[in-house]
Amino acid sequence: MPPPLRWCHLDGRLIELGQARISPFDRSFLFGDGIYEVMPVYDGRLFRPDLHHERLARSARALQLRNPHSTAGWQALLEELVAANGDGDQYVYLHLSRGAEAGRNHAPLPQVTPLVFAYCAPWPQVAEATLRDGLACITAPDPRWARCDIKSVALLANVLLRQQAFEAGASECILLRDGALTEGSASTVHVVKDGVMLTPPESPQILPGTTRRVVEGIADALGIQRRNERIDEAQLRNADEIWLGSATREVQPVTRLDGQPVGSGQPGPLWRQVYDAFQRLKRSG
Ligand code: PDD
Repeated sequence: MPPPLRWCHLDGRLIELGQARISPFDRSFLFGDGIYEVMPVYDGRLFRPDLHHERLARSARALQLRNPHSTAGWQALLEELVAANGDGDQYVYLHLSRGAEAGRNHAPLPQVTPLVFAYCAPWPQVAEATLRDGLACITAPDPRWARCDIKSVALLANVLLRQQAFEAGASECILLRDGALTEGSASTVHVVKDGVMLTPPESPQILPGTTRRVVEGIADALGIQRRNERIDEAQLRNADEIWLGSATREVQPVTRLDGQPVGSGQPGPLWRQVYDAFQRLKRSG
């Protein structure tokens, strides 16, 4: 990932990233007690911010964390930050911590004030080789907790899974729970079989992906058949195509899974259609 851009938002102020300081008693530091969003910016415009505002509000409700801004307030704050960092293509990382207390209490004190931190980084351009040859992925049992639908900053399991993938020379770790596909360590997984796009149904076991919503909309517009349903391990391994979706990946083809080719071993034709439509959509404003 490229290094971050110069300006960040911290606790109501736009400041240089190098000046940003937080308390060691910040609860997201001590307990992982916070939530986040990663939002793409194309041509200086936040892409589908509605989906991110909706999910941020949902995560805040799940934590009973006081959401310090209205949707319009968040939007203004983020637009100011993106403009300060020169518009163009970027992504925004937005972190909402429950805030800092004097000391360490497992149950938060009622008066704790939430802390907002947001920074931008240049858009992580997708490598030509990824689009031409696709990605290698591995699978692993899903070891995470029972509320993976909350976009929590407590990401230790995801970190260890991604490390496992990295050590295997793979781009992502695709997770299986009770014999079924859940998602990637930091991505939604779509599977294509016989021309139908399959995605695991939304549940507490997976994050409700924003890119997923975009990909589903594109599939519908292109007349690609799709279903949200349980995908068992055999279906995953016998897929014609596997795609990864996330805010920073957009939609990418997986062509090797645990060392075996996926389908033809080349990025598939439905992925190409969806990818091309995604590229048009993100530039259309
Ligand atoms: N992660 N599932 C998990 C576990 C994720 O961490 C992500 C995204 C997704 C895809 O969600 P979206 O399409 O809204 O990005 C699914 C972000 C990009 C991250 O942690 O950096």
